[in-house]
Amino acid sequence: MNIHGTPTRTLRARPAQNAIDLIDQTRLPHALHWVRASTLEEAAHAIRAMQVRGAPLIGATAAYGLAIALEFEASDARLAEAAALLRSTRPTAVNLHWALARMENRLSGLSTAERRAAAWVEADAIAEEDVAQNAAIGQHGLGVLRQLPRHDGRSLQVMTHCNAGWLATVDWGTALSPVYAAHDAGLPVHVWVSETRPRNQGLLTAWELAQHGVPHTLIADNAAGLLMREGRVDAVIVGADRIAANGDVANKVGTYLKALAAADTGIPFYVAAPRSTLDFDCPDGAAIPIEERDGDEFRRVHGLDAHGQPSALLQLPEDEGVANPAFDVTPARLVSGLITERGVCPASLAGLLGLYPEMSKARL
Ligand code: MRU
Repeated sequence: MNIHGTPTRTLRARPAQNAIDLIDQTRLPHALHWVRASTLEEAAHAIRAMQVRGAPLIGATAAYGLAIALEFEASDARLAEAAALLRSTRPTAVNLHWALARMENRLSGLSTAERRAAAWVEADAIAEEDVAQNAAIGQHGLGVLRQLPRHDGRSLQVMTHCNAGWLATVDWGTALSPVYAAHDAGLPVHVWVSETRPRNQGLLTAWELAQHGVPHTLIADNAAGLLMREGRVDAVIVGADRIAANGDVANKVGTYLKALAAADTGIPFYVAAPRSTLDFDCPDGAAIPIEERDGDEFRRVHGLDAHGQPSALLQLPEDEGVANPAFDVTPARLVSGLITERGVCPASLAGLLGLYPEMSKARL
């Protein structure tokens, strides 16, 4: 997607330097800054510290992290050790585990001499597939948006939560891909962007929508229900970190409350995600691990000070107890449909198998 009118991806592979360059999302929306990861540890740090975030981008970064790790040694032990470190960075987004399993499958049958080059090729394939799948999600989602009833003279009002835009992927995004497709197709669309405390990923969403010229308005998370009740929202679209086999959806904490409000007000609630987010081995939402993050994310508010410098403000006593679960689970019954690269389906095992019939053979 565009930054200052220039098409840009979130990740640039630099195989000749054994490195990847990443947009440091901890610096946005105030500064656009690229960081380089040229060691396994730097790639793992980028994921853990959320310099990169969003399920598909975490997966792609981990794949490249594994390639980087094999620079000097590509033994079985090194491969297993590197995959284990990367796997330990974040538990909920299954794309991370999916990408590492795919890399290990591809590499384990090769000689150590072949592994390094093959790792870069496979990581590139994961990144390219992400871009293509997200673009397809955009087209399927555009079909959904086109079928929504339009209020006379009003642009389509889409609400989203967290950031499931191009910053959360290699390109296009998942939940925002249909929004970009609609905007680019001339379908007037406006996005209600939920701030997403405590890490405020909504600010990333607002930033990238602004870069692409899509009209949007930031709201406090707690304002979402009111807007829905007032008839100011036509659809909610969110991304996902893991979709269980029964269609239950793990996504950024606060998603469940939006789904409840959408169900109560009769507003369609869609979840957009690529194949790498589907976990057919996970029976239902109760089996999805929920990441608990450091309470400091909650204690400190980050922004710019009066001199325009990055700054953090402590907003409660250091010894105040806080809980900081990073995700929640929305039961399948609250989801109007899953928008995937293969089309739109009900949030159920039957719905998923309709789009991914090869998984029903795999389950036998
Ligand atoms: O903790 P984050 O910022 O990595 O969480 C991101 C989300 O919850 C996104 O909605 C999800 O990963 C989908 S990204 C296309």
